[in-house]
Amino acid sequence: MEKLLGFLPPMGWNSWNTFTWEISDKLIMEIADAMVETGLKDAGYEYVVIDDCWSEKQRDENGCLVPDHYKFPGGIEPVAEYVHSKGLKFGIYSCAGTHTCAGHPGSFEHEFKDAETFAKWGVDYLKYDYCYKPLQVPGEILYKRMSTALRNCGRDILFSACNWGNDNVYKWIRESGAHMFRSTGDIQDSWQSIKNLALSQMGNECYGGNFCHNDIDMLVVGMNGSSNNEYINGSGDDQFANKDGKGLGGCTDIEYKTHFALWAIMNSPLIIGCDIRKMSPCAKEILTNKDIIAINQDIECRGPYRISQWNNPENIFSLVKPLANGDFAIGMFNFGDANAEMSLQLWDIGLSAAAGVGVEMYDCHKHEVEGQYFERYVTTIAPHDCRMFRAKVIKK
Ligand code: GAL
Repeated sequence: MEKLLGFLPPMGWNSWNTFTWEISDKLIMEIADAMVETGLKDAGYEYVVIDDCWSEKQRDENGCLVPDHYKFPGGIEPVAEYVHSKGLKFGIYSCAGTHTCAGHPGSFEHEFKDAETFAKWGVDYLKYDYCYKPLQVPGEILYKRMSTALRNCGRDILFSACNWGNDNVYKWIRESGAHMFRSTGDIQDSWQSIKNLALSQMGNECYGGNFCHNDIDMLVVGMNGSSNNEYINGSGDDQFANKDGKGLGGCTDIEYKTHFALWAIMNSPLIIGCDIRKMSPCAKEILTNKDIIAINQDIECRGPYRISQWNNPENIFSLVKPLANGDFAIGMFNFGDANAEMSLQLWDIGLSAAAGVGVEMYDCHKHEVEGQYFERYVTTIAPHDCRMFRAKVIKK
């Protein structure tokens, strides 16, 4: 089947989390190489996206955006071409306001011209931010405008809206034509941030779906405090700031594993933010876990529902996502700071032990079947850890 634009949650890499303004043609080309060499491309990651700070601070005399002369001396086109030559797709960034968040020209009142420019350069993906939006203009109309421009620019360009969940975006984003929408503020490389962002979107599952995915923000898996940006490293976040006020940043490998499982089962786009040229073996294992990616990329794109543990409902819960072939994806999460025994009552996911119906649990981290269960499944989960299963319905 021909791949339909934005049908499933997009997968790729974005420059912002690790590099912010320190981007260049060389970096993007090395990232494209690494996407292939590390096996990320084979695992399904497709887009290489340049975020903010790629352009000059002024448009040219014809009103066109101009690539930064130092960072991209040959312009954007050859970079896009290089990315395409690796069998990957190329993305870029602009903003619905007059300026981007970092003060570069935004696309306000230049939407159709910019869409044409992007098409000419070979862009396949546009992330569209929300800074410096004129206050009297509703964001809704600006996303509709850019979406129309992209849909009529002569090239397939995936539209990634980024208004941080403001202005009741859930109510109008699907009809705007955007393929994904950021529902959260910026992620930080900290467990607290991962937890907050995930919790903030539980209950919003009904708004995502095929062709319009709820984007909880880019992944921090594998960053280990390596962002050049102190905010992303977690400074300003008391829990993570050291005495000098500088962020300690970074998460444990277990926290990164849980982060990836959450984003996957919640159907977020999977956009990597670490420096994949220097990924640790553990980060690579997390990011290329084919069983977990398959849950994220399930063709029906149904959001999960939450089942909380009766004796610690805040911290201990399962997310259950029905899959197209009749299986369930089951993520079991411990957000607390102590070991937790957790029991999933199979009645809660629609099974009847009396009718002899149970599940065979396949462990998506160990890649093996753990066993067959009727009535309930019980396990112990370490602090901040998770278990992820593909559960097949069976009869006694
Ligand atoms: C923020 C956005 C980030 C990043 C940044 C660039 O508004 O949420 O993901 O794109 O702008 O300045």
